[in-house]
Order: sequence, then C-alpha cells, then structure tokens
Amino acid sequence: MQVVSISSLKGGVGKTSVTLGLASAALAAGIPTLVVDLDPHADATTGLGVRPSRQTDIGRLLKNARKADLAANVAPSGWVATAAANGQHSVGRRILDVAVGSAFTGIYDRPDLGRRDLRRLSTVLSRVEGYSLVLIDCPPSLNGLTRMAWTASNRVLLVAEPSLFSVAGTERTMRAIELFRDEYAPNLTTAGVVANRVRSGSNEHTFRLAEMKSMFGELLLAPTIAEQANWQQIQGAAHAIHHWPGESARQAAGLFDELLKNLTDSGRMRNRVLRRTPS
Ligand SMILES: Nc1ncnc2c1ncn2[C@@H]1O[C@H](COP(=O)(O)OP(=O)(O)OP(=O)(O)O)[C@@H](O)[C@H]1O
Ligand SMILES: [Mg+2]
Repeated sequence: MQVVSISSLKGGVGKTSVTLGLASAALAAGIPTLVVDLDPHADATTGLGVRPSRQTDIGRLLKNARKADLAANVAPSGWVATAAANGQHSVGRRILDVAVGSAFTGIYDRPDLGRRDLRRLSTVLSRVEGYSLVLIDCPPSLNGLTRMAWTASNRVLLVAEPSLFSVAGTERTMRAIELFRDEYAPNLTTAGVVANRVRSGSNEHTFRLAEMKSMFGELLLAPTIAEQANWQQIQGAAHAIHHWPGESARQAAGLFDELLKNLTDSGRMRNRVLRRTPS
C-alpha cells in the first residue's frame, strides 16, 4: 500500500484539487484507493461527493486511534455511483473510499504534538486492507496534522504554484521534510513537486518554472497542471474530472492520469531499489 501525503506550507495552491485529480485518475484506472481528508475544512470530502451518513469522521477515529475501526467508517465517494450510472467502469468493482473529514481534526493541528500523537494516523491506517493507494489531503501548515500525515506516509507530494512565495514555501517545506525524516520517519521520501495552475502564456510562470527546475531538479514532476477555466464549476458539482464532458476536462484528466502513473511508477522503482538493499 502506497501512502502519499499531499502537502504545502502555503494555503490555496491546489492540494485538494491535486488530491481530487489523482483520486479521479485512480478510479478510472481501477486502483483501489482511500482518500483521508485530514483538513478540518473537509473540502476533499465535499469534492468527492460524500453523503453525510453514519460514519465516524477521521478526527474522532484519531482520538480513539487504538480502538478505531476505519474500515467500518469509510464512505464511498459519490463518484463511484456516477461512474456506474454512466455505464463506465463496467469491468470489476471500483473502490474509491473516503475517511471523512470534519472540524474535529482541528484539535490535533498544534505545533507541539508529541511522538505518541504523531502516530495516531499510522495506527488507524494499520488496520485497513484492500487499498493499493492512500491519498492524504493535508491542511496548509506544517503543524500536527501534516506531521501526523507524514508519519503515516511513504511519500510526500508537494504542490506549488509558479509564484515567488509558493516556490519559497516549497523549498522551506522540503527542508522541513528532511528534518522530520531524520527525527521521526526514516522511510519517508519526497515524491516530488507538482506545479499547479500553470498558465502557458505567462512570462512570470515560465520564469518560475525554470527556477523550480533548477531548485528541485528531477523532483519537479511531469506533467505540470494547467490553470483550468471550469475547475471551480466541476468541483462545485462534486464531479470527477474524468466524468466531466468537454475537451478541456478531458485534457486535464489526461494530465492527472500521467501524474498518477509517474507517481506510482517512481514509487515502485523506489521500492525495488529498497528491496535490493541488504538489511
Ligand atoms: N489547476 C487549477 N485551475 C483552476 N483553478 C484551480 C486549479 N487548482 C486549484 N484551483 C482553484 O483554486 C482554489 C484553491 O484550490 P484548492 O482548494 O485545491 O487548494 P488547497 O491548497 O487545497 O487550499 P487549502 O490550503 O485552503 O486547503 C479552488 O477554488 C480551486 O478550484
Ligand atoms: Mg485544501
């Protein structure tokens, strides 16, 4: 099971949008996936079309981590039913579940979370089976929730806009990951940086992308994600990008297919390298 945190120090750069895009690509590819919505604003839960039901939210599960039954409390994304209703995904059962977000997780978003609290999500996740991929949508800070997500992850995917403050924030986050890995999570790796909201005609964006390439080298992932005119409309309708009609949505869906492939391929490569290393 690959567990990927989607993080950034800066708010509003597209963490939730990238999480949703990757979840949509995973659903289309038939990869059994769980999205953990750690952000107290619970935007990913909304975007994934989850109907409020009897599930216990992830904040309360974390509070009772040792007894929590995550498998009994995940909610299916509404996208799965939409796909079935559209006659898509007719081959086999598709799994896209959500560990439901809520404001309750806010109790852990403190800078002083101890080692025991940092392990809460790992403990909760250790009892679920049947997913190949877990995507964790993090809040925009390096406080307790993001650090709890990193403790439970193999990989961190950073999201950045091609702007000065976002690039500077990404560099600080990279350094924070290195410090965190040394102290708490020796197996954590940086999956890379995805540039979001890229406008191809913008000189500033071209300049910042070149800057990111020289700063992050191979860790700047391909492809970059373009600014999408109807993005808010698609998210507002709680639709998967793969289910939205029209050429621009089809192109954006293709970008997320490619990003997911690069993410999972490089993860496998890393695992192969790790397995070859004598212990
Ligand atoms: N590629 C894109 N094209 C157009 N709009 C985008 C794109 N990516 C994100 N947005 C829009 O930008 C806004 C912020 O995106 P999003 O909520 O994904 O960011 P975030 O990093 O999760 O924010 P927060 O830090 O508040 O959790 C949203 O309204 C979203 O629809
Ligand atoms: Mg978000």
